[in-house]
Amino acid sequence: MARRKKLGPARILGIETSCDETAAAVVENGRLALSNVVASQAEMHAKYGGVFPEVASRQHIKVIDTVVEEALAQAHLELGDVDAIAVTRGPGLPGSLLVGLNMAKGLALGSGLPLYGINHLEGHLYSAWVQLGEAATGDPGPQFPLLALIVSGGHTELVLMKDHLHYQRLGGTLDDAAGEAFDKVARLIGLGYPGGPAIQQAAEGGDPAAFKLARAWLPDSWDFSFSGLKTNVLHVVRELTAGQDLQIGEARLPQARQAADLAASFQQAVVDVLVGKTLRAANEFGAAEILVAGGVSANAVLRAAFTAESPLPVHFPPMPLCTDNAAMIAAAGYFRHALTGAADSLDMDIEPGWGLG
Ligand SMILES: Nc1ncnc2c1ncn2[C@@H]1O[C@H](COP(=O)(O)OP(=O)(O)OP(=O)(O)O)[C@@H](O)[C@H]1O
Ligand SMILES: [Mg+2]
Repeated sequence: MARRKKLGPARILGIETSCDETAAAVVENGRLALSNVVASQAEMHAKYGGVFPEVASRQHIKVIDTVVEEALAQAHLELGDVDAIAVTRGPGLPGSLLVGLNMAKGLALGSGLPLYGINHLEGHLYSAWVQLGEAATGDPGPQFPLLALIVSGGHTELVLMKDHLHYQRLGGTLDDAAGEAFDKVARLIGLGYPGGPAIQQAAEGGDPAAFKLARAWLPDSWDFSFSGLKTNVLHVVRELTAGQDLQIGEARLPQARQAADLAASFQQAVVDVLVGKTLRAANEFGAAEILVAGGVSANAVLRAAFTAESPLPVHFPPMPLCTDNAAMIAAAGYFRHALTGAADSLDMDIEPGWGLG
């Protein structure tokens, strides 16, 4: 096990604008969120069935000042009371990332506080360290070596963390991300956007074994693939709606029961592969614990399957921190600040395609 420096106390202001959430938060010692403000644009993008980049960046510009002020006010702090600023530098939409990074640079320049540029996926991992509301209970947080699964709107990544800030990427999706598959399949079934919560809800009364859907195990790698499953669902929808002029997003299955069964069968296929491969990787790499983060980690069936099937402790973020937020960026920033103290230069640029590990 690598060295463990003693972690000193610090409060970090986090800023996140990588996609369609304008977010700011203050987190103490990488664990306790003193505030967590998220201004979501989801409703503005729903009519496009996805995020419209120019609308997103303009909206970030409109609300970023207020969101940061609100995060400090809710924490009962002034900027001078925090120890550092952490901001998402990538991956994400360039125009959106620029708004957060420029805001953070301005605050760092004016205050003299150190600035840390954080990888958004690193942030998703650190969301599982953050506690909302109640004071920290003495729970030490996830323990290393940790096998982590990030399942979000843009990523499906298996990552081995042997220590804080150390990321070994084992594999990822070859096509659609898990959340993207939920969103696309929800459109195929006619369930709206964002698709993850809609599928979960529709699946509640459904039979997960009703339709035999593809599971891409890709047994010789730690990669994932969800495009075959998505095509599989499309074929089922076509069969069930035979004779109708099928428009993507407007398909209406003849019976509500069919939509429930198809949603449940799709959800089960995704969950089987995510849980199966993660547990296998955890065993092969000798992990002590498992961490699951990102928007899809909010899924109740996924959480239940991990909890039931894993011989190791499994950590999930608090529900409000599964999707994008700035508390996770502040938490990652804390570990950078406390363990390395190596702040970034104010010349740093955005990294829209930044990978992890
Ligand atoms: N209960 C749920 N079940 C399944 N998927 C869900 C659930 N809740 C949210 N999601 C999915 O999570 C995704 C959004 O997650 P998140 O905000 O982490 O992604 P992102 O930030 O857009 O992508 P990335 O972090 O990869 O850049 C969406 O695809 C959404 O459908
Ligand atoms: Mg995200």
